[in-house]
Amino acid sequence: MNAQTFPNPSPEATRLSASDLWNRLRRFYERRGPRAWAIDGVPNHVTINPGMARRYAHVALRYAQDCRRLGLGAAAPFAVVEMGAGSGGFGYRLHQALTGLRDALGMDDLKLAQVISDMAESNLESWREQAGLRPLLAQGAVTGVQFDAMAGEAAGPVGREPIAPPVFLANYLFDSLPMDLFRVTGGCLHEALATVEAPPEGDEPVDLSAVTISWTYRPIDLPYYGDAALDATLADCLGQPDDDYWVLFPLGAMRCLAHLRALAGGPMLVIAGDLGSTRFPSFPLEEPQLIIPGAYFYAPVDFALLAKYAARLDGHALHQARDRVLNISLFSFGIPFEQLRETRLAADIFFDMVSHSLIFDSMRHMLDSGAPPSLPLFLDLAAAGSFDPALFDGMIEVLQTELRAGLHPPELWEQLVEILDRFVDNVFVTPGGADTVFNIANLLQELQDYPRALVFYERSARLFGETPATLYNMGVCAYLAGDPEDALARLARVVALDPSHVMARGWIAQIEHDRDAPPPPDAL
Ligand SMILES: C[S@@+](CC[C@H](N)C(=O)[O-])C[C@H]1O[C@@H](n2cnc3c(N)ncnc32)[C@H](O)[C@@H]1O
Repeated sequence: MNAQTFPNPSPEATRLSASDLWNRLRRFYERRGPRAWAIDGVPNHVTINPGMARRYAHVALRYAQDCRRLGLGAAAPFAVVEMGAGSGGFGYRLHQALTGLRDALGMDDLKLAQVISDMAESNLESWREQAGLRPLLAQGAVTGVQFDAMAGEAAGPVGREPIAPPVFLANYLFDSLPMDLFRVTGGCLHEALATVEAPPEGDEPVDLSAVTISWTYRPIDLPYYGDAALDATLADCLGQPDDDYWVLFPLGAMRCLAHLRALAGGPMLVIAGDLGSTRFPSFPLEEPQLIIPGAYFYAPVDFALLAKYAARLDGHALHQARDRVLNISLFSFGIPFEQLRETRLAADIFFDMVSHSLIFDSMRHMLDSGAPPSLPLFLDLAAAGSFDPALFDGMIEVLQTELRAGLHPPELWEQLVEILDRFVDNVFVTPGGADTVFNIANLLQELQDYPRALVFYERSARLFGETPATLYNMGVCAYLAGDPEDALARLARVVALDPSHVMARGWIAQIEHDRDAPPPPDAL
């Protein structure tokens, strides 16, 4: 079959990787900093939750163990470098997970060098302000650095000093790095040239969901990139003459792997998690689309191609047993996975046996089906998900409904109460983020455990700031716990903050009335 003919590209048409869209995305993250998550709605719950941090920590430390067994860098610092760390929530939880696990495994002599990095300085500034990360950064327990994953000069100790084989984490990063699009048809490779029409940029984020991208295709010859490994991987994309499919070529992710390889200068492990697929071709039937929910976008990552590319840099890929919406793949450079026994074991347990998708799919199924009882399954999922505060927030209404319906015996509710502290231990405070501690206090109030509810409202006020709602609930709980004077003091503060707070005024009247009323005759 001959190569197909396509209309001539417009003069403005460029390769996708050279289109201004990627510069816009970069500027979006640089300008918005933590507001990208708090206000603009970039999703991050699935990638930064405590269960995910523990998964990565297990694999990273098992890799350190494997390297020691192989006689590699036992006395040198062991660097775990998170790239594109965004809000910092993952880094904070990873620190808890890494140090807890290092102690549990008795790896006392391990010189852990945890680095959190991002190309956006605005994110680094926000880490220094964040309650959980600030002390870790100040003590040097975690190092925060600005690092461009495709070109950064050094990432903490990596690139500067002798270290043990490092671990790099690309958690929801590769889908934000430039890609190219090709169509394979008629036995030929065609580059896709993009003509982008997007609203002009201002200081505030511009909604890109209305952007139009029109594609024209043009046959290409190899070499295309002028880089042996990239061109050989592109050549791998060619199929049979009758094939017709699209390839979203993860150019930025490949450049990142090559860059890390040069920086590390020896064996290293990269753990990458992204929306994507390990099956090639990822798009057998239709032209792939960038996913543009608003002012930012992302694109599915072709992990099969990344694996082929990695193989050309002495890399080895380990994928999950089945494709998941959020795919996590491991890339080991310099050491084949056959020699990384513990790493493989950890990946098997944490990315397949008890995978993140098992927890989230079960949770979603439970919420969507609306079929009670949910509490027993929730208790299991809470433990399997490492007491993720967001799981609790997602369940609070269901739990309240089941409590009001008297669905479960008190012992089961007591089991829930016993684990509430563990959710709070994992809270990472971000501007505009959900106040899990307040939600926990609300549930305790419904359980009529007023003294404990009061304690959690106070913790909520310390972590998230005192609001009229927190103060009001503290007042009610204080009263119901038998302390009317404390209740009146708190409720008076609510009214001072919000004079129109009818409920607080009502309680004040009620409490004063009860206090001033003569005692009932049988109390005399
Ligand atoms: C989709 S967000 C993911 C953030 C975080 N890892 C998470 O899971 O929530 C992508 C992050 O990568 C950062 N980023 C984009 N391009 C980068 C690059 N070339 N090098 C380093 N970081 C980059 C952005 O600033 C942003 O924080």
